[in-house]
Amino acid sequence: MARAVLHNAFCDELGIEYPIILAGMGVGGRATPPALVAAVSEAGGAGILGCSGLSPEETRRRIHEVRRLTDKPFGVDLLLPAKIAGSAPTRSGVREEIRQRYPEHYAMVRAMIREFGLPEAYPEDEIVVNIEYAEKVLEVVVDEKVPIFAAGLGDPSILIPRGHAQGMKIFGLSGSVRNAVRQKKSGVDAVIAQGTEAGGHTGAVATFPLIPQVVDAVAPTPVIAAGGIGDGRGVAAALALGAQAVWIGTAFLVAEECEIYAENKRQILDSDSESFRVTKVWTGKTVRTFQNDVVKAWEQAGLKTLDTPHQRILLEDLTASATKAGRYDLILNPAGQVSGMLKQSKPAKQIMEELVAGTIEDLNRINRDLRYSFG
Ligand SMILES: Cc1cc2nc3c(=O)[nH]c(=O)nc-3n(C[C@H](O)[C@H](O)[C@H](O)COP(=O)(O)O)c2cc1C
Repeated sequence: MARAVLHNAFCDELGIEYPIILAGMGVGGRATPPALVAAVSEAGGAGILGCSGLSPEETRRRIHEVRRLTDKPFGVDLLLPAKIAGSAPTRSGVREEIRQRYPEHYAMVRAMIREFGLPEAYPEDEIVVNIEYAEKVLEVVVDEKVPIFAAGLGDPSILIPRGHAQGMKIFGLSGSVRNAVRQKKSGVDAVIAQGTEAGGHTGAVATFPLIPQVVDAVAPTPVIAAGGIGDGRGVAAALALGAQAVWIGTAFLVAEECEIYAENKRQILDSDSESFRVTKVWTGKTVRTFQNDVVKAWEQAGLKTLDTPHQRILLEDLTASATKAGRYDLILNPAGQVSGMLKQSKPAKQIMEELVAGTIEDLNRINRDLRYSFG
């Protein structure tokens, strides 16, 4: 059978076959490992390595690994946080600040660790995701001449002159029209507009109202739609709303190549959309995640969350304790509302084939079933 065709000018700009991009997802490197990134690129999309929280050396190692597996375009995603005043540059330093400045929060997490019957454990690395850290990883991205860079948070303008000089395509992610306009002004090649349905850090506006507003506000800059896209119908809808491509996270979390823990995949496959809610418990910012017993316990306690990075560092101690005990049901599992429609784990290649075929089927269905004309 001939190979399916789903292609536009934006695909040509990126050098890819289909307008489908695997979202870069952080989570300690488990969500978008090189094997998943390369599989998506090999299948005609663009795979993006989520490198937020990884060291510069590990980021470089992953870039090399993707290049070993594919010669197709791929990218790196990083969170570029704004300068955080008054926060220590190391994990142990931030922990000490929490102990001194926020004793009630510190005590509550220690109490939760005891109540869940977990051993005390601490993450091994000293990384705090701040702008100084992000700049070191950006150096690796430039040095390695990565074809695509996406800023999941913050302003990528520091990268633009050097990135563009070497042909890099640079995207900025945004959950609001205001921020999308800011991204455009900083000179990005495309704006990723992410609706609140999305997994991970997310804003308040849903994908359907967000995409057309961002398309109008940043024209002629291309828009990539994100948030709540789980099958070909979602891809067709995003294209109909004016997007040039889609940026898909959650639907690839259940790919066989994705290395999030089996228990977290199970939560995604077995739960309905309502189980994935927005909370500030994990990072101090709004994150859509599986509503597990940690989120419920915190919300019942009614204690206001801290800002980032303190809330994140505080909760990562709990995550380290839960991981040591094999209690993966108690760790952060960011995922979006499309989880409700995901029922089976599959190889990434099959997910890509089904997305492409589903989009074509849906476009054909519309053309077949709908009569339309201006007069
Ligand atoms: C597990 C997980 C981790 C994520 N981590 C990041 C990240 O590190 N950087 C980023 O730009 N976006 C991150 N996101 C958001 C995705 O890039 C993407 O915008 C989102 O998944 C799209 O919505 P969907 O989940 O409905 O497909 C993450 C999303 C998930 C589900």
